[in-house]
Amino acid sequence: MKKLLYQFDTDALPSVFDNIVGFDGGADHISAYGGVNAGNVGALVEGAIFTRSTKDKKNTAIFVGGADMLEGEAMLAAIRAKFFANFRVSVMFDCNGSNTTAAAAVAWLSHGRALAGKRAVVLAGSGPVGQRAAVLLAREGARVAVTGRKRAVLERTCGAIRSRFGVEIEAIEAPTNAARGAAIEGAHILLATGAAGVTLLEAKQWQENPSLEMIADANASPPAGIEGIGLTDRGAMSHGKILFGALGFGALKLKVHRACIARLFEQNDLLLDTDEIYNIAKSMVGS
Ligand SMILES: NC(=O)c1ccc[n+]([C@@H]2O[C@H](COP(=O)([O-])OP(=O)(O)OC[C@H]3O[C@@H](n4cnc5c(N)ncnc54)[C@H](OP(=O)(O)O)[C@@H]3O)[C@@H](O)[C@H]2O)c1
Repeated sequence: MKKLLYQFDTDALPSVFDNIVGFDGGADHISAYGGVNAGNVGALVEGAIFTRSTKDKKNTAIFVGGADMLEGEAMLAAIRAKFFANFRVSVMFDCNGSNTTAAAAVAWLSHGRALAGKRAVVLAGSGPVGQRAAVLLAREGARVAVTGRKRAVLERTCGAIRSRFGVEIEAIEAPTNAARGAAIEGAHILLATGAAGVTLLEAKQWQENPSLEMIADANASPPAGIEGIGLTDRGAMSHGKILFGALGFGALKLKVHRACIARLFEQNDLLLDTDEIYNIAKSMVGS
């Protein structure tokens, strides 16, 4: 019985990254569909749930990806609405690597350390990775703020997080490096989740910040999201701060993503979303 993964992507062109990790995680075959949304996913789900016997359904699974988190979440809800009784398959939600990347970053930041009561600022936190990282930092007990260039976008982001996860995230409009420097005053944890290749902070802004204890940058495409953070930093010390670069914690992201794909094929009723994926990351970090 072949392990079949159905990759449903909100983008017109489904992610090659997610496709490759799907194979590396153990799928025998992946069918990748682009332009999938809540309105057109129904027939695809029916194809997945009605074809194999109950005992064989664990060999069929669904992966939800793409850059549009809101559409991805609506698609996930539409997929789950099609399931009934034993007519269901396991599903992983990871739009733009949101859950796996945020889980890996926060798992490293909290590895062997308590984040409760710490002030955490997620720079450019309105994107998929930043939104999920903000939730996970809050789950660890940190007081979390996200920055972005436009207050209206941030307020939508924080509202969506509140209604989905029940956590309060502060919105700080910070359209320039200077404003982002001001936003991290008094912060203990800094995580940058800006678009690839965008530098959000200069080195001296974090180096001269007395309260910062830990810094992580998710951006793997040069130049760095935070100047002076090495791509492969994993717990490196500089200016009294613990540093994590995109590849430094990205290795865990890949391991977690592959492990999640493997788990999809162990049963037919698994949902791997933010909290489940974070638990997997916490069980793997540092090993
Ligand atoms: N290390 C890893 O393993 C790994 C894995 C996956 C992704 N990533 C990286 O993680 C980062 C976040 O991914 P994502 O998909 O969440 O990012 P994204 O949606 O592409 O961008 C995140 C935010 O960046 C801000 N932004 C865009 N252009 C900007 C500019 N010119 N100046 C300042 N801010 C700007 C936007 O916020 P506002 O419009 O609200 O300002 C946007 O919401 C990316 O760099 C991605 O490549 C890393």
